Amino acid sequence: MTTSPPPPIVDHIRARTSWRAFTGEALELDTLSALRAAMAEAESRTPFGNRPRFEIITRAESGNVDLSGMVTYGVIKNPPAFLVGAIARGHRDIEDFGFAFESILLKATELGLGSCWLGGTFSRSRFARAIRLGDDESMPAISPIGRPSAARSLRDRAMRLFIGAPHRKRFGEVFFDESLDRPLSADMVGPAHALALEMVRLAPSARNRQPWRIVRRDEGQRFDLYLCRDSGIVSGVKPGGVDMARLDAGIAMCHFELTARALGLSGAWQESEAGAATTPTGCEFIASWR
Ligand SMILES: Cc1cc2nc3c(=O)[nH]c(=O)nc-3n(C[C@H](O)[C@H](O)[C@H](O)COP(=O)(O)O)c2cc1C
Repeated sequence: MTTSPPPPIVDHIRARTSWRAFTGEALELDTLSALRAAMAEAESRTPFGNRPRFEIITRAESGNVDLSGMVTYGVIKNPPAFLVGAIARGHRDIEDFGFAFESILLKATELGLGSCWLGGTFSRSRFARAIRLGDDESMPAISPIGRPSAARSLRDRAMRLFIGAPHRKRFGEVFFDESLDRPLSADMVGPAHALALEMVRLAPSARNRQPWRIVRRDEGQRFDLYLCRDSGIVSGVKPGGVDMARLDAGIAMCHFELTARALGLSGAWQESEAGAATTPTGCEFIASWR
């Protein structure tokens, strides 16, 4: 039996890691136009129908000022550009932003560019001015975009060590069969669904907390996505602040959907719950893939 090679999206998901130091060289015009095409597509294709908007702020267009200064604590070195986005407040706006932003960062990875989700460590007011943020909008995250430096910076390495960035929870710690006390294993689902789930497992999340859980139900007819936060995450959201776990949920949905579509699996994200009684205690139902 011959097995077909995994689709390119799998390579991009595996290749993406947060990158915080860049060579500083300007983005080429064809790279910029490929990114802008991905941004336009991302603006129009979100699971809950919200419409984010994205802009790239380049150092060249900003009068060659050092853009590193726009990020606090000097975490990001030599970025030639930033991807910035905004979304009008509404039902599941943050999840949709997470989905769309991640699809652009995966395109950046495909183009050989480095990126890093920044949800906390940046000066909101400066980027808000740059994107002319409206009163009804939020700007949940930004990312530097550029050619990655040959080696990670000392600060990047220290941060990755502190957060445990390369680590991910095991398959059976985040995916379940019918209820949270029954871990799912890859061989309990078909190879295509197993690969789509594995791509969720590899997804980036704020502080690498991996707050998503997926419960397979009705013998694989539906895959229910939940956010199960530890108490630290709930208390960590300041009034008016961005709920990072909801961005994480959107990123997980993006990885699942792009992989499922590339593998020819049918399905879409739907909001109808299997039944409130099935929601695991302490978790929030987000959507169901079926
Ligand atoms: C929503 C979100 C917000 C993040 N915010 C920050 C941030 O403010 N600063 C930072 O250095 N990294 C940030 N990260 C990067 C995570 O720490 C990183 O994705 C995680 O540790 C996994 O590492 P990896 O991206 O290399 O796979 C964020 C990631 C996500 C998904």
